[in-house]
Amino acid sequence: MSSLVGKSVLLVVSGGIAAFKIPDLVRRLRERGAAVTIVLTEAAKQFVTPLTLASLSGNKVYDDLFSLTDEIEMGHIELSRSADFVLVAPATANIIAKAANGLADDLASTLLLATDKRPVYAPAMNVRMWLNEATIRNVAALRAAGATILGPADGVMACGEFGPGRMIEPLEIVDGLEKLLSADASATDRPLAGYRAVVTAGPTREPIDPVRYISNKSSGKQGYAIAAALAAAGAQTILVSGPVDLAPPDGVSVVRVETAVQMLAEVEGALPSDIFVAAAAVADWRAKSVGAQKTKKGPKGPPSIELVENPDILATVSKMKKGRPRLVVGFAAETENLIANAKAKLNRKGCDLIVANDVGAENEIFGGDKNRVAIVDKDDAQQWPQSAKGDVAERLVALIASRLATI
Ligand code: CTP
Repeated sequence: MSSLVGKSVLLVVSGGIAAFKIPDLVRRLRERGAAVTIVLTEAAKQFVTPLTLASLSGNKVYDDLFSLTDEIEMGHIELSRSADFVLVAPATANIIAKAANGLADDLASTLLLATDKRPVYAPAMNVRMWLNEATIRNVAALRAAGATILGPADGVMACGEFGPGRMIEPLEIVDGLEKLLSADASATDRPLAGYRAVVTAGPTREPIDPVRYISNKSSGKQGYAIAAALAAAGAQTILVSGPVDLAPPDGVSVVRVETAVQMLAEVEGALPSDIFVAAAAVADWRAKSVGAQKTKKGPKGPPSIELVENPDILATVSKMKKGRPRLVVGFAAETENLIANAKAKLNRKGCDLIVANDVGAENEIFGGDKNRVAIVDKDDAQQWPQSAKGDVAERLVALIASRLATI
């Protein structure tokens, strides 16, 4: 299916001989499922009539910056923003110069100044104009501002000269737009393509003797959902997982561990990465010495187990001097003073974001399919509504992608 289906195109037609091809362009855009709204410059009206374009597009054609009726129906700012993209074809040297320099003396150039889209230009002009220093500078300025320039082609001009300057054919313009839209769509669907992520999930299991261990109620569901969402967003994702009863998420490499010490070693082995998410419920302590044999009941009564503290994986990664991931996200499982405790944890551990959840008994977070979290960073705390763990993961990954885009 064409990526133009359902898209609305604002087509700005400036005044060059190539404007005679615009009825064909409009027809082809509509064949591919796009809706077309047209703006004509005064000069364009010398080459193609508003009536022809109105009938072919099925829409009103706009041409006057100061038309009271047009402004009441749809203001020029809205006209420039409501379209999915803006196409200028043919783009004369004059409209390119105006757009590159921010001039706005008619409706077409005002729209190009007011739009929040990155316009696509299909230039058409005499070869000398195209190769003129001023045009070269103006085209470079438009490209630097994010515009796309389709063409021009080489060929014999209406004026008889040969060289670059001829507008590419309507079909080639339409194909070029489709390619741009598909590239944009995949960039929006996979905002983390090219990034690496490491995630911890599940509980750890700290042995006391060959048959007994210390652990906790973590199911690993939230961490697995985050790894799945990171992979779906395009990140190359390694999940270091404690013992859980979950299938590996699609596209994620899973490394299974039992203890906190093993988890830290595997995380360090999986780095460097751009993103680190510590969703595991790491046991805070482990037995100082692990019995080689099963501890027996005896006349001395229950044994006492001496505990030592486990390494803090999140703090270790957050405080790495070299190769620290660009974004480190921790979790805070709290039963009281959620935000205050999460903020204190953020400062103590040195991570960039904390996903805080209230794991009080009434919330059934452990093992459940829903989660209610607050996102805490150094400046702010934001409560998210209760939702499925998969939705929390997707929302968190969108937040991670937007943070990474700005640091
Ligand atoms: N964490 C870790 N390594 C540890 C302990 C915790 O990486 N040894 C990480 C968890 O994965 C989580 C965050 O630290 O991202 C906070 O875990 P939490 O259990 O809430 O905090 P603790 O550090 O255990 O602090 P406390 O139990 O005192 O609340």
